[in-house]
Amino acid sequence: MNRFEGKTAVITGGGTNGIGRAAAARLVDEGAHVFIMGRRERELEGAVMEIGRNVTAVPGDIRNVADLEALFTEVKSHGKGLDILFANAGVATFATIDELTEDDLNHVLGINVVGTMLTVQKAIPHLNTGASVIINVSTSADRGAPGMGAYAASKAALRSFTRTWANELKDRGIRVNAISPGPTDTSGVVELVGAENVAAYNESLARQLPIGRTARLEEMAGVVAFLASEDSSFMLGANVLVDGGVNQI
Ligand SMILES: NC(=O)c1ccc[n+]([C@@H]2O[C@H](COP(=O)([O-])OP(=O)(O)OC[C@H]3O[C@@H](n4cnc5c(N)ncnc54)[C@H](OP(=O)(O)O)[C@@H]3O)[C@@H](O)[C@H]2O)c1
Repeated sequence: MNRFEGKTAVITGGGTNGIGRAAAARLVDEGAHVFIMGRRERELEGAVMEIGRNVTAVPGDIRNVADLEALFTEVKSHGKGLDILFANAGVATFATIDELTEDDLNHVLGINVVGTMLTVQKAIPHLNTGASVIINVSTSADRGAPGMGAYAASKAALRSFTRTWANELKDRGIRVNAISPGPTDTSGVVELVGAENVAAYNESLARQLPIGRTARLEEMAGVVAFLASEDSSFMLGANVLVDGGVNQI
């Protein structure tokens, strides 16, 4: 399939071995040129090496307006506007209400909510008619897992913003939808629980998931590509749960 021939995409958080990088590889496979952004240059370089073509890395922090402007200036100089924005960058923390500090909360809400809002806002002038914006939410937005309060609240805010932004941008021919991944084995999970605990963590999650396992990266990338494409042309403000049934049955 070449659904994205001639199209330009931006994916924040596309450097590490996670959902963003997998989505970048999928969009490139289907013909897009993809700009990826993240704070760690080494990770970005790794993604560029792995994907191999039609990918441009722009180091930066989504909390920093100057970095976002530099990203979209690069996109502009590519000369084709922007067709796909996957606002994927995000962070998580484990802390119950007894443990949660003001700094923890500001950190998570600052990146996940404020950073994502800035990403979408700074992208708008560059978005072509017919563009698709995809927000990375999470099944956590609708759950109450102990210790995940700050993260879940940030993702619930993004689920809400998805509805508002879809309404506000629809008349400009821009569709905004969300993907809500269930547990997926990524570098973000390694950072959250520690490399030595990942196998046990994933096993315990797999036991809680009706489908009996955590998700593969390509299972998320496929849904991102669907939302990015005309195949989802009647979807607006939706939140697609890709969750192995955990929020369904
Ligand atoms: N894995 C799951 O089970 C799961 C489930 C539901 C939702 N999600 C969501 O999926 C998204 C991707 O996570 P992932 O699991 O694939 O882990 P990941 O590989 O760690 O991806 C997170 C990415 O965000 C980037 N990032 C974080 N803060 C940033 C900032 N301030 N500016 C720019 N980039 C920033 C990170 O790169 P740098 O650190 O180099 O900046 C990293 O590339 C997140 O929004 C996460 O909440 C994940």
